Amino acid sequence: MHSSAGTSRYDATYAAWQADPEGYWAEAARRIDWDRAPERIFDASSGPYGRWFPDARLNTCHNAVDRHVAAGRGGQPAIIWDSPMTGRCETLTYAALLGRVSKLAGALRARGVAAGDRVVIYMPMVPDAAVAMLACARLGAVHSVVFGGFAAAELAARIADARPKAILAASCGLEPGRVIAYKPLLDAAIALSPHKPDAVLVLQREQAPAGLVAGRDEDWAEAEAAAEPAECVSVAATDPLYILYTSGTTGKPKGVVRDNGGHAVALRNSMAMLYGVEPGEVMFTASDVGWVVGHSYIVYAPLLTGATTVLFEGKPVGTPDAGTFWRVCARHGVKAMFTAPTAIRAIKREDPEGRLLAHHDLSRLEALFLAGERCDPPTAEWCAAMLRKPVIDHWWQTETGWAITGNFRGLGLFPPRFGSGGKPSPGYDVAALDEAGHRLPRGQSGTLAVKLPLPPGCLPTLWQADDRFRESYLEAFPGWYNTSDAGVVDEAGYVSVMSRTDDIINVAGHRLSTGAMEEVLASHPDVAECAVVGIRDSLKGQVPLGLVVLKAGVAKAEEAVCRELVGLVRDRIGPVAAFKDARVVPRLPKTRSGKILRATLRKIADGEDYVVPPTIDDATILGDMEGALRGIAR
Ligand code: COA
Ligand code: AMP
Repeated sequence: MHSSAGTSRYDATYAAWQADPEGYWAEAARRIDWDRAPERIFDASSGPYGRWFPDARLNTCHNAVDRHVAAGRGGQPAIIWDSPMTGRCETLTYAALLGRVSKLAGALRARGVAAGDRVVIYMPMVPDAAVAMLACARLGAVHSVVFGGFAAAELAARIADARPKAILAASCGLEPGRVIAYKPLLDAAIALSPHKPDAVLVLQREQAPAGLVAGRDEDWAEAEAAAEPAECVSVAATDPLYILYTSGTTGKPKGVVRDNGGHAVALRNSMAMLYGVEPGEVMFTASDVGWVVGHSYIVYAPLLTGATTVLFEGKPVGTPDAGTFWRVCARHGVKAMFTAPTAIRAIKREDPEGRLLAHHDLSRLEALFLAGERCDPPTAEWCAAMLRKPVIDHWWQTETGWAITGNFRGLGLFPPRFGSGGKPSPGYDVAALDEAGHRLPRGQSGTLAVKLPLPPGCLPTLWQADDRFRESYLEAFPGWYNTSDAGVVDEAGYVSVMSRTDDIINVAGHRLSTGAMEEVLASHPDVAECAVVGIRDSLKGQVPLGLVVLKAGVAKAEEAVCRELVGLVRDRIGPVAAFKDARVVPRLPKTRSGKILRATLRKIADGEDYVVPPTIDDATILGDMEGALRGIAR
């Protein structure tokens, strides 16, 4: 399974990239159909750190759909929608996908959407979400998909920033035991946003059809059926394909921009190299189209490859049981599966002996890929023992769009080291840096950074915010992209990612900002000051804990305030924040300059040892905190 020859194939490829990065990416670019093939590979003079394929032109939808139909794959499944939430399973062939995407693109065009216009997509895990993304790509319009678990205010912030000409939304999403009516959330978001869309197309789902606002909303199916099909619009490789908002350290999300050319090249290149998936083979990524993993490995990379993607509407457990992922793999002949460690922990908790797994024929499954959060070694080991297949942890971020590190099926696998995210992907020079930005010796922990330029597929900038991009990622270590992850590169080159260096936490594989939650808590009239920290959770990895100091003279019962705070975060950020624990404390530990000692609070709650910070203003507070928080993490 793991060969030393494989290790050297990886080494040779990595060395080839290092020796001639432009040659490496020029070669990878051959797998894409261009309207104008790149003659220049990288332009260091434009953008905050340079741009890939500056003179090339293409259409991403053509590469993901049309060219496969033209090459004879029209009858092959492109998307298999497997929905235990509804009991339905449906297949869209490449030919059928082309038909739908062209018509929906025509409907958008008829409503004034043209190249460069933004379109917000607010959809659950139905194939129409992928159709919507591709229809935008077909027109050269820029989509921005918003995850369904966000509240109206978060959706509004994204609408205000992206200023979409149109919005595509479903009437509802389905969570176990409840139907989430999306339309009231969308209506509230549009009301909150200073920018209003010209058109809204609503996909009516039978579980909760929505009322339409006259003059603005239209029935998606009718609009699509009545439309003239639209052809692909050629765009510059450097034109944006999408904006995906992700948590920053403040309440204002960052609009990660993905360009058309670099994205297509990098994702197509990753499919064989990382996942071992070739045209005609099946990939199942159990994530959500609202996250980067969903953008890259539910929608774009499999389709750019001419592979089949499984789009799954359900949960790892309870829909109907902890064998549902294995059933999907067996039923559809999945070769590579990708999910978050949380999902595996949930399955392990319900089915520790793997009894449900044993019912299914997984002979075609070659490997399971994990990302989205740190994977604790016991989870990876359990999974590898149950599946008796490689379990591959790989590290990436919304910003990068594809793996910074991994273990490469297409380049031969090297022995896994559970707890590590693997070795750098060709394209990334990864190092742990000290505070002064010097490369640390192997084995020492520091801030993980990627030497500029970032490879194709990574964000060239933030949406209309070059300065914020520079401040957030480039200024800390000149010449490097700061990942804001802390970790270590060991002697053999394996990279282990241990924690974030900023206020971002990872809850059930969902990236959330504690700063954004603090802004919500601070807006409560009874709260004087507050801190939100991510504490350890055996299922979700981390969960947020809110600590608040009340204003003097608040007469309300503490429990009542805490209940209100939990409700407020759910209303403003959304259920996905999983904010269920707010506690009142008399004071918060701070430095003499007034900075709340969040890291110390987290360690106390996690039951870890800590050093009393020398800059602490009043160390006696830590005794109170010990009493209130010691070991509350699960
Ligand atoms: N729309 C609306 N609500 C949503 C939602 C969506 N798309 N996704 C999640 N929520 C809600 C959940 O229903 C839950 O609500 P509740 O507080 O009323 O119970 C809340 O948000 C928190 O969700 P989550 O943290 O996901 O917890 P859970 O108990 O519902 O599920 C797991 C736990 C482990 C099954 C689930 O988190 C999971 O599958 N995680 C994998 C995540 C993943 O794939 N991440 C992508 C990166 S690769
Ligand atoms: P997101 O942008 O939602 O993909 O979250 C990115 C963050 O998740 C990273 O910065 C890491 O903190 C964390 N992360 C993702 N994958 C891994 C991994 N394989 N190991 C450790 N942390 C990871």
